[in-house]
Amino acid sequence: MTNGINQNNDNTDKLVEVPKGTLLLRTMSMPADANPNGDIFGGWLMSQMDAAGAMLAYELSQGKVVTVATDEIVFLNPVHVGNVVCVYGRVIYIGNTSMKIQLQMWTKKNHSAGSTRVKVTDCGFTYVAVDNEGRKRPLPREVRDNKEQIILKGYNSVNGSNSCPVD
Ligand SMILES: CC(C)(COP(=O)(O)OP(=O)(O)OC[C@H]1O[C@@H](n2cnc3c(N)ncnc32)[C@H](O)[C@@H]1OP(=O)(O)O)[C@@H](O)C(=O)NCCC(=O)NCCS
Repeated sequence: MTNGINQNNDNTDKLVEVPKGTLLLRTMSMPADANPNGDIFGGWLMSQMDAAGAMLAYELSQGKVVTVATDEIVFLNPVHVGNVVCVYGRVIYIGNTSMKIQLQMWTKKNHSAGSTRVKVTDCGFTYVAVDNEGRKRPLPREVRDNKEQIILKGYNSVNGSNSCPVD
C-alpha cells in the first residue's frame, strides 16, 4: 500500500498501482454533487481534496491553516453518483510556515463488493499555518526540526495512529 505499487496475484507480474499515503477522507458522492450528465462536479472533488489535506495540515501545524496553492489538477477518471470516494495524503515538503501535502483521490462503485477502484487525480496542495488574524505563523518547532523524518516516515496524525477506516 505505502509504496503505491502492488504485484498481481495471477502470476502475470503486472504492476498495479495502489493508493499512496494515509487514508484521510472517505465519503459517498451524492446526486446534489452531480452535473446533468450524472458525473460529479470537478469543484466538489477539489473541495474534498482540499478538506482532506487541511485535516492533515491542521494536525501537523497544531492550529489554523489556509490553502495557498495547488499543483495542476488533472482528472483521470470520472466519479459517478453513489461512488465511494477516498482521499489519501502524505506530507512531501515542510517549510517555515508552509507544508505541501500530496493528495490522491480514488473511487469505486459502492454497491459491488470487490469492485475495482480507479485513481481520479493526484495533486499537491500547499497549506500555510496562520494565527487568529490570518497572518502566517511558523510551524511548531518539533515539526520543523524533524521535517526529514516526518516526510520519510509519512505522517499519520499527531499521536502516530491512523484512526481512519480502511477502504
Ligand atoms: C497564505 C498567506 C497567509 C501567506 O501570507 P504572506 O504573508 O503573503 O506569506 P508568504 O508570501 O511569505 O508565504 C508564506 C509561505 O507560503 C509559501 N507560498 C506562498 N505562495 C506560494 C505558492 N504559490 N506556492 C507554494 N508555496 C507558496 C511561501 O513559500 C512561504 O512558505 P515558507 O514560510 O514555508 O517558506 C496569504 O497569502 C493569504 O492569506 N492567502 C489567502 C489564503 C486563502 O484565503 N485561501 C483560500 C481559503 S483557505
